[in-house]
Amino acid sequence: MTVHTILKMGDPRLLRVAEPVTTFDTDELHQLVSDLRDTMRAANGAGLAAPQIGVNLQLVIFGSHEQNPRYPDRPLVPPTVLLNPVILPLGSEEEEDWEGCLSVPGLRGLVPRWKHIRYQGFDVHGKPIDRMAEGFHARVVQHECDHLVGKLYPMRMRDLTSFGYTDVLFPGIGDADE
Ligand code: NI
Repeated sequence: MTVHTILKMGDPRLLRVAEPVTTFDTDELHQLVSDLRDTMRAANGAGLAAPQIGVNLQLVIFGSHEQNPRYPDRPLVPPTVLLNPVILPLGSEEEEDWEGCLSVPGLRGLVPRWKHIRYQGFDVHGKPIDRMAEGFHARVVQHECDHLVGKLYPMRMRDLTSFGYTDVLFPGIGDADE
C-alpha cells in the first residue's frame, strides 16, 4: 500500500505532455497502477493520472466500485486502467457539469465536455480497449486524459464565475477538502 503525494496546480510537472508507454505488462507498470489505485482511493477520487504523482507517462485510472462520497449523485463508471489513450468526439454535442480535481483541492468548476465519445487505448497488459461513453463516464475520461497533455480543468472553463470552493457551492456535500 503506497499512497503518494498528489501534485497540486502550480507544479510545472502537471503541465507536461506525457510520454507514451512502450512496454506493457512490466513489474514497474503494475506497481505504478497499484500505487495510483491506493492514492486515488485514499483521496476518494473518481480518477487519477500518472502525472499527478509525478510520473510522466500516458496512464490513467478511473472508475468506482461503489458510490463515491465526493460524487454521491453520480452514476458508477467501470473501473479502468487506460494507457496511451485517444479520444474521439462522437458528434458535436457538448454538456457542462461540475468537476473537481485532486490536484485542485477544495474547488469545483463548471466545465464543458463532449457529451458522447469513443475512446481507445490499452490496458496494463497491452490489450486494446475501445469503448463508447457518454455523460459522466465520458466526462471522467476527458478529464483524466487532459492530465496527459498538461491540462487542468480550470483551463477548459469558459466562465470563471462558475468556479468556487466546494463547501460554498455545495454546502454539506462531500468532504470540503476533497
Ligand atoms: Ni484531475
